[in-house]
Amino acid sequence: MSVMLECKSLSVRFDGLAALSDVTFRVQEGDLFGVIGPNGAGKTTLFNVISGTLRPTSGEVYFQGRRISGLAPGRICRLGIAGTFQPVRPFASLSVFENVLVGACFGRDRRGASKDSERHAHEALRFVGLESKADRIAQDLTPAEKKRLEIARALATDPQVILLDEVLSGLTQVETTEILALVRRIQDKGITAMLIEHVMRVVMELCGTVLVLHHGARLAQGTPQEVMNNPEVIEAYLG
Ligand SMILES: Nc1ncnc2c1ncn2[C@@H]1O[C@H](COP(=O)(O)OP(=O)(O)OP(=O)(O)O)[C@@H](O)[C@H]1O
Ligand SMILES: [Mg+2]
Repeated sequence: MSVMLECKSLSVRFDGLAALSDVTFRVQEGDLFGVIGPNGAGKTTLFNVISGTLRPTSGEVYFQGRRISGLAPGRICRLGIAGTFQPVRPFASLSVFENVLVGACFGRDRRGASKDSERHAHEALRFVGLESKADRIAQDLTPAEKKRLEIARALATDPQVILLDEVLSGLTQVETTEILALVRRIQDKGITAMLIEHVMRVVMELCGTVLVLHHGARLAQGTPQEVMNNPEVIEAYLG
């Protein structure tokens, strides 16, 4: 196992507010790494820093030993980190296929459209089970299909790390089970995944490692079992 991603003393301040404070952790290759914490804990902010949409106030992010904090989001995506957005935001007026094609054109080691782009887009749509909806306009999809679309767009970039921000929120029981199976298949492909999730049962079942954020700081890290039995974690959730 090698270290895929490392965050060192990450801090993000918005005016007076510390959205992240001195957060340090490592993600091992192939892990399904859960990030949990109450609302406003800094989870999405952490993903935004990793994907490059937000610059940390201080601290660094390393991807496969290379410093990536400070690089533009497009550079970081080409290196092999892709994410879904919270809330989902497809290009509403483009077709499902076109949305995924965008990912295929600007992914890992890629610079714009090539003869393989359409094939990559079709493969990603097939993988998430949206092939039959390829010609639909993105805004006409159901909420669950939009989540699949986001995941397909990320997968089309051929990432080594995928960031999944609350891909299960607002779904029915059946839809949740389906997306969970999809997340497992993503891991089976050898992709390292980071997952922000509120439903503890899901975190317990899926994740190898869990990071708990609270008021922007790292409260705990360990196996799901370890963090769930941690008195400080219990206090943060009940308190
Ligand atoms: N662009 C911004 N400008 C100012 N404050 C922000 C900005 N983005 C986030 N914040 C604040 O930073 C804190 C952390 O927000 P963040 O979205 O990272 O939390 P979260 O853990 O993802 O919460 P949730 O579970 O509700 O998605 C919150 O207090 C939020 O209001
Ligand atoms: Mg969030």
